[in-house]
Amino acid sequence: MVKLVIHPSKKQSKINKEIYGHFSEHLGRCIYEGIYVGEDSPIPNKNGMRTDVVEALKEIKVPVLRWPGGCFADEYHWKDGIGPKENRKKMINTHWGGVVEDNSFGTHEFFELCEQLGCEAYVNGNLGSGTVQEMSEWVEYITFKGVSPMSDLRAKNGRKEPWKLAFFGVGNENWGCGGNMNPDFYANEYRRYQTYVRNYDMENPTAKICCGANVDDYEWTSDVLKTCYRHSPVQFHGFMDGLSLHYYVHPEGWEIKGSATEFDDKVWYKTLNKAFYMDELIRRHGNIMDEYDPDKKIGMIVDEWGTWYTVEPGTNPGFLYQQNTMRDALVAGITLNIFNKHSDRVKMANLAQMVNVLQSVILTDGADMLLTPTYHIFNMYKYHQDAQLLDSFVETENIGVEEEWQVPNLTESVSMDADGNIHITLTNLSLTEDYPVETILTDYEAKEVKGEIVHGEMTDKNTFEDKECVKVCEFTGAEITEKGIRFTIPRCSVLHLTVK
Ligand code: AHR
Repeated sequence: MVKLVIHPSKKQSKINKEIYGHFSEHLGRCIYEGIYVGEDSPIPNKNGMRTDVVEALKEIKVPVLRWPGGCFADEYHWKDGIGPKENRKKMINTHWGGVVEDNSFGTHEFFELCEQLGCEAYVNGNLGSGTVQEMSEWVEYITFKGVSPMSDLRAKNGRKEPWKLAFFGVGNENWGCGGNMNPDFYANEYRRYQTYVRNYDMENPTAKICCGANVDDYEWTSDVLKTCYRHSPVQFHGFMDGLSLHYYVHPEGWEIKGSATEFDDKVWYKTLNKAFYMDELIRRHGNIMDEYDPDKKIGMIVDEWGTWYTVEPGTNPGFLYQQNTMRDALVAGITLNIFNKHSDRVKMANLAQMVNVLQSVILTDGADMLLTPTYHIFNMYKYHQDAQLLDSFVETENIGVEEEWQVPNLTESVSMDADGNIHITLTNLSLTEDYPVETILTDYEAKEVKGEIVHGEMTDKNTFEDKECVKVCEFTGAEITEKGIRFTIPRCSVLHLTVK
């Protein structure tokens, strides 16, 4: 019998709701088709946003949405995306398939989407190919309330009141697609650009996100902080509120990537092993951040994460369209448990990407749509949003079919919500073993337990022919004991238990 020990009285960090954030780029069919179809579309929409997609996203309580990229952000000139649509400039989306971007989805449309979703806005600015003035004016356009050239322009375009801009990224992947800069150069550019990202609305300040490292580039983290960190109280009044980190799971490496749907048990464990690497990355980048910021006031912002496979056969390689299986459900469950456990440092994370790109929660086909296994994990984990992480520990053993790609059999995280309910999310990575779990809740009397589960075979997926192959099912296998609760977690599953 595996032991899971939970200490409800040992409250740890708050799990910021933004850890459950999403990312939507002008890439493939994410924005266009996936979210935005335009007001004249036969697909039911509200102000151009697909009603079916928006309703499904509201269900998982999307807390924050990052836009417009990604690599696209450092080539995006926001003034091309405002004003009458027929006058908007067309551009080439050089990063993603070389298609024509008609700029029909711009700033006003993004904030309309955020309003419909009820989520915060995270806008990523252009440092790679844009000017300081352009970045500064964008923030003025979005947030300034009084009389100014940019607020006048906003009003002329139909929006008198400013919007709330919760987060602003000062460049994206500036070590790569965002300008190929070295850390010292970027860090000085960050200092300069962020100066002009003004906080006009002090009641709703905009947090500034500095571009952080690619995967294990610890030198980038160290060098950027060395140049940017200010040892003064001013530091925490808007100089740098977050430092990003990007990490994708490629089962067979960056070059080959690997199929999204056809894989064997070796690749299953290899993929999950790679998902675990997130934990090491957070710890090691976090240790460097601790040297400068021991009080953890600067958030680690994992604003791109997820699986990245070879595109679906027959689709545009530049569109990054991929299917989603139980393996993705497990990657999501494992990763979100890791984020919860590191919520003292990780303040936001954004799955890449929301619809039709990489590890999406939704796939669309014309007027049709489906929810992926990853969607269901976000739906079960939503109860952790803004809850208090509890001290917990699960006994594990290493499993796998190859020495090199072993993984712990189970992962967990536990939180207490504002009503005092305890939420346990547990993943079983084994393809063969169910595990009986004895849960000990110290100094706590459990009165009621209910559960829900996503469970299946490793390559199970939802298709337009069979949309409910993978879904959330009720889990009735948990019973209350003297010490806590007891249940058996089936192989290849993600479980959510609510204890009252
Ligand atoms: O999410 C796809 C791409 O991955 C983003 O545009 C970029 O930031 C990253 O390399």
